Amino acid sequence: MKYFNCFYPKNGNLSRLLGIRKGYNSRAQLIKKITGNMSGKHVIDIGCGDGSLLVDIIQGTPSTVTLIDSSERFLQIARENESLQVLNPTYICTNGFHYKWKNPSLVLMIGVLDYSQNWINDLNDLLVQEFSGKLIFSLPVKDNWSFRFIIRRLWLRLWGIKLQSCTYSDLNKLMHQVEVKFLAVRCEYDWIINVEDIY
Ligand SMILES: C[S@@+](CC[C@H](N)C(=O)[O-])C[C@H]1O[C@@H](n2cnc3c(N)ncnc32)[C@H](O)[C@@H]1O
Repeated sequence: MKYFNCFYPKNGNLSRLLGIRKGYNSRAQLIKKITGNMSGKHVIDIGCGDGSLLVDIIQGTPSTVTLIDSSERFLQIARENESLQVLNPTYICTNGFHYKWKNPSLVLMIGVLDYSQNWINDLNDLLVQEFSGKLIFSLPVKDNWSFRFIIRRLWLRLWGIKLQSCTYSDLNKLMHQVEVKFLAVRCEYDWIINVEDIY
């Protein structure tokens, strides 16, 4: 599998220069608003990367924090992140789409489906599991013709990765297949999608 880590953080400055990470702050603020206080919750961050997003949005003290990434290199960077250590996380290196969870209250999957080759199938793999919490994931919006977005697409293409993206109507249609209710809020370049109570 090919991942985003082909350019980040190894080429973090280059990706920043190309504007690939632009929109990060507004996205983090919106996610923070949706997640709310995490005290007492069982939090799973699928595709946690270096863990910096979780650090930026954390509010309160979760009961448990599980950080999952398919890249050992990213998990190693997360392990070295001192702001994360206070949360006493469990680190798991695996394909997050096949992760069998045990009743989490909050699952985050931010910036992960962007690089999947068929995001709805991958999401479906997760959603066959029962849970009564909140799943928050993101997907790039399709009708984005900004220079930065086009550069991002081209850049990923260079690495053989087709960036996933969707319009609101695509989202509606595809989410109908997985039979869950969702709420999608657009923030600059991404949809932030909130799914609650899967069964
Ligand atoms: C763009 S980064 C996002 C990091 C973090 N969630 C954020 O928003 O800053 C995507 C991360 O997802 C991980 N990833 C991609 N596919 C994955 C999969 N199937 N299972 C677990 N992690 C995955 C990559 O290794 C990378 O660390």
